[in-house]
Amino acid sequence: MCGIVAYVGQQDALPIIIKGLKRLEYRGYDSAGVALLNPNGLTVYKKKGKVSELENHLLSQENLLSKIGIGHTRWATHGEPNDVNAHPHYSSNDQFAMIHNGIIENYDVLKTDLINKGYKFHSETDSEVFIKFIEDIYANNDCSLEEAVRLALHKVVGAYAIVLMNKEEPDTLIAARKGSPLVIGVGDNEYFLASDATPIIEYTNQVVYLDDYEIAVIRDGKLQIKTIENVETNPYINQLEMELEAIEKGGYEHFMLKEINEQPRSIADCMRGRLDAQNGRLVLGGLRDYMNKFQNADRIIITACGTSWHAGLVAEYLFEEFARIPVEVEYASEFRYRNPVLSDKDFIIAISQSGETADTLAAIELAKSKGATIFGVCNVVGSSIPRTTHAGSYTHAGPEIGVASTKAFTAQISVLTMMALKLGYKRGTLPENRYMQLLSELETIPSKVERALKMNDKIHEIAKEYKDARNFLYLGRGYNFPVALEGALKLKEISYIHAEGYPAAEMKHGPIALIDEEMPVVFIATKDSSYEKVVSNIQEVKARKGKIIAVVTEGDTVVKNMADHVIEIPATEEAFVPLISVIPLQQLSYHIAVMRGCNVDQPRNLAKSVTVE
Ligand code: M6R
Repeated sequence: MCGIVAYVGQQDALPIIIKGLKRLEYRGYDSAGVALLNPNGLTVYKKKGKVSELENHLLSQENLLSKIGIGHTRWATHGEPNDVNAHPHYSSNDQFAMIHNGIIENYDVLKTDLINKGYKFHSETDSEVFIKFIEDIYANNDCSLEEAVRLALHKVVGAYAIVLMNKEEPDTLIAARKGSPLVIGVGDNEYFLASDATPIIEYTNQVVYLDDYEIAVIRDGKLQIKTIENVETNPYINQLEMELEAIEKGGYEHFMLKEINEQPRSIADCMRGRLDAQNGRLVLGGLRDYMNKFQNADRIIITACGTSWHAGLVAEYLFEEFARIPVEVEYASEFRYRNPVLSDKDFIIAISQSGETADTLAAIELAKSKGATIFGVCNVVGSSIPRTTHAGSYTHAGPEIGVASTKAFTAQISVLTMMALKLGYKRGTLPENRYMQLLSELETIPSKVERALKMNDKIHEIAKEYKDARNFLYLGRGYNFPVALEGALKLKEISYIHAEGYPAAEMKHGPIALIDEEMPVVFIATKDSSYEKVVSNIQEVKARKGKIIAVVTEGDTVVKNMADHVIEIPATEEAFVPLISVIPLQQLSYHIAVMRGCNVDQPRNLAKSVTVE
């Protein structure tokens, strides 16, 4: 969480930084700030609220021309969102300014020590402690700022991506990372630093991903990278493949709507070059070297958070059905702290859109230390998880900017489905003719998703009726149980309506007590092996006067006679239904949130990439 941007070169830094902060606003939007350096000095400007508030504030300021600058958009951890807690933070003597993304866990001890030495603090942030700690080392060791940073990094505990400016060095930026991402764009005699590549892509497609425990110094147009042990490393330049249009709204009112509608293409992109049903080919490059381990694993453990965890639950059904290997699906935040029993016979799949989720990263480190093989399923190319796992497959959904995950979910399921089919085929648990049949059906999914999207107008009408509901229940069974969880999460995170997902049969063990004429219940009741049972569950809700919104297979006549509203989706193989049945649930939550006047792309209290515990 928190987005950081910095620039040094020959251009005016401020517009580059402001534009970059807007692109990173999905990472946090509690406050924003910049620091600029010119003959008038090193000046910090910061404001509570969105980047647009900062922009308004800057309209009344003078002397903003600067060839170097740093900027920050905050997701508050230590201290409430206000002007003072906003970044950048100054050192006591205003000689240095710093932006920080992450959390310094031992900030309390450091702060007490600094207070005893006479330092004063204005904010409640760990970041102000961090810069003053660096300042103290600088003042007492007669060393360069770069050296002071290096020494400080040996003492701080926690996660950080930082960028510092020094009033005395107008052509120098110093940056470092551990646990929080930092990308350096290499232009023509200019450098762009940011939490991800989106602020950079407009200027250059050459980037260096800083690694943990590395310090980058950009001085006088040159980039030097050293480890915190002071060993120089060779910056490896990667070519970005992202297109600028992929990070713009492209005529849609919200990124979320654009991303929902992009799914036929994003699922096809995910399968492109991997699935060739006609020739019975399914190739996942990342699996090649690890197929043996995968095939012979005693157990598959899937770890993830939020929506990615829901994709993991779908995968549990897929792997167990097709490959007959036991699967456990773990919340990364629980897994990492409960001393799990692991061995080198375990195959771990870590799923993450951002590739930066702190809990998932920690779960990976733990599993790695026990000798397990870790496979990443991530969307953001070059992010931390793909760089720390043994192997992996990208989802290729393209940048997902809306905080509510949509196209990343279906792309994750697409990759996991291909993995399960491949594994089943290789293990002989999935006979060849059935395998071929499934590959052919999988190829039709993008066009079926396209068809499902056409229910949008009807869903818009349903949303009108239920936008003021205070609670919602989402019920599904089998492959549609994780979809029910995902539908409920989508609704609560963007519309702030309380919603719960349950396996439909669990309803009678408690949640049924909630049902009355005020309670909308969304059933995912597609024609599959548990259809008849779900129909009985629908009857139970109807008998108690609950309002029924049912997602059904095209042509269904039974549920149509019971439900208050039906949303039809195309038929497919039971195992592939989640790729389609989630679409109307995404649309329903989107329309309800818009009608309630909520900020769909940047819901309150949330951030796209959760890089703190
Ligand atoms: O980037 P990740 O997939 O690791 O993120 C995990 C969750 O934070 C994320 O899915 C979150 O639940 C979304 N806001 C859901 O829409």
